[in-house]
Amino acid sequence: MKIEHIGIAVKDLESAVKTYESLLGTVCYKREIVESEKVDTAFFQTGESKVELLGATSPDSVIAKYVEKKGQGMHHVAFEVDDIHKELDRLRAEGFTILNENPKRGADNKLVAFVHPKDNCGVLVELCQQIRE
Ligand code: CO
Repeated sequence: MKIEHIGIAVKDLESAVKTYESLLGTVCYKREIVESEKVDTAFFQTGESKVELLGATSPDSVIAKYVEKKGQGMHHVAFEVDDIHKELDRLRAEGFTILNENPKRGADNKLVAFVHPKDNCGVLVELCQQIRE
């Protein structure tokens, strides 16, 4: 599985975008709000992978809670899969805890599902599949 992106939770998305534009030497190519998650996202291409910055759009957003509890930093690692339903079935059979029953629509035209960090040595894992339509 290819690492599609790394998700980083930030306190102030505007200033984080500037920081990562300087760090990576590239401009943010996409901004997208995911209303269902109350998250504002900013994407950067870096080599074959991406960096996704995640800012809260509301104090009750999961990202707001995360930043409050743990501070800014690495939030998840996303692996790209061809068939997310098949991969979720495989992981369930292996005993992994999938956080959302069905894949949901995430940012960047992807179907996404998350695997509980307790099953992955403390790392929240996202599976993502390009939406083909
Ligand atoms: Co992500």
